[in-house]
Amino acid sequence: MLDDMLDYLEHIRERPVWQPIPDAVRGRFHGALPLAPSQLGAVHQEFLENILPYSNGNTHPGFLGWVHGGGNPAGMLAEMLAAGLNANLGGRDHAPIEVERQIVAWMRELFGFPQTASGLFVTGTSMANLIAAIIARDWALGFAARRSGVGASEKRLTAYASTAAHASLRRALDFCGLGSDALRLVSVDARHRMNLAALRNTIQSDRGAGYTPFLVIGTAGTTDTGAIDDLDGLAVIASEQRLWLHVDGAYGALGILAPEIAPRLSGIQAADSLAFDFHKWGQVPYDAGFLLVRDGELHRKAFESPAAYLEREKRGLAAGSPWPCDFGPDLSRGFRALKTWFTLKVHGLDALGASIARTCELARYLERRIVESSELELLAPVSLHIVCFRYKCADADRVNARIVIELQESGLAAPSSTRINGAFAIRAAITNHRTQATDIDALLDATLRIGRGLAPAAAEEQDLETVCHGTVYDE
Ligand SMILES: Cc1ncc(COP(=O)(O)O)c(C=O)c1O
Repeated sequence: MLDDMLDYLEHIRERPVWQPIPDAVRGRFHGALPLAPSQLGAVHQEFLENILPYSNGNTHPGFLGWVHGGGNPAGMLAEMLAAGLNANLGGRDHAPIEVERQIVAWMRELFGFPQTASGLFVTGTSMANLIAAIIARDWALGFAARRSGVGASEKRLTAYASTAAHASLRRALDFCGLGSDALRLVSVDARHRMNLAALRNTIQSDRGAGYTPFLVIGTAGTTDTGAIDDLDGLAVIASEQRLWLHVDGAYGALGILAPEIAPRLSGIQAADSLAFDFHKWGQVPYDAGFLLVRDGELHRKAFESPAAYLEREKRGLAAGSPWPCDFGPDLSRGFRALKTWFTLKVHGLDALGASIARTCELARYLERRIVESSELELLAPVSLHIVCFRYKCADADRVNARIVIELQESGLAAPSSTRINGAFAIRAAITNHRTQATDIDALLDATLRIGRGLAPAAAEEQDLETVCHGTVYDE
């Protein structure tokens, strides 16, 4: 199994980035309950034939969609060790928790947080954003609200993020009982960064209408375009207005490892909480989300929940309080910290920073090639490693949506899509440390080839639709 996976990673380029699952293969996952045992080798063979070839594709250098990290072999091996130990990191006194605490200490240092800051591994930034919203809510309402519920308070809390912020924030406000409408979406400037004057105005008009603003969320690397909000400016407003400042740095926060990106994250050190993922730009295998909270005491007060069977002691296995379960909703927790610890130690932070910088260089290369091409159009400024563009033609939304699907099905490149100012965009987020300039060339060559093939047909179809529509209308 080990050889298979190491070979898989070594020869990943020889495979399609992604391929659709044939019906017969999909059908194999509709089997009966396995009441009788099977040979380990036979199950492994099924894995090789029916699972491995039809995976997501994000280990492949041609995978450019969404924001998916590429993983790394040291992290993969650490996952095996973690599964062998089968440690439960909800609590108790054992070395795996010290590994997690080590990473919390490293992240405090990296992001300039105080010694009193707490940290926690979670599934991903969606969960870290939710936990941060809960802490901020309890801080604003008072921790008694944990018992009485949000309905017992007369305060109508409101939070603020930009229109470019991630959808997980709306869900966080919904899940923590305030309702997604409590998240006000503030307009952005031409570089897709939150407009701070509009933020001030919105806060002021909410206060005037009897609301209680409590939370402002800056994004360090927006999902669509890679924009970084003015975190210094947000810190000033949060302090003046007495708001909790949360930073969603899902992938962008680790840009702090790249000397050319770090200055643009200035202000991140002033956040009350910071959410980010090691599984994106950090290249740790999925999943490895993380939350850092400036005031660890507030963090604990929002989540601790004593129970007789979780009694703490000064000695013995039940020592070592507070436990990670006191800082989040999970009691049973896996050893995500180990693959992160291995990845950081084996590669070193400088190398991770260099790989982040390289993905941004590749994005600038892609940007240049788009700008030089008369057939392609850049749809948003390139801030970090994300490039949004389209093939220029009539009926561009429909043609470009087809281009994305055909690129993915070709196995040559797998971008995703988004909409920029209403226009359909091919979106390349170059997150994988294995991606090279030749992968960018392959994306562009295939886009042009597919676009040229589709555009005349699309124009004809559009003409036909106009004619048909015209006929019906005339009748
Ligand atoms: C800015 C931002 N926030 C939050 C998330 C959600 O992160 P996760 O998928 O790890 O939950 C993403 C995902 O790409 C993101 O880009």
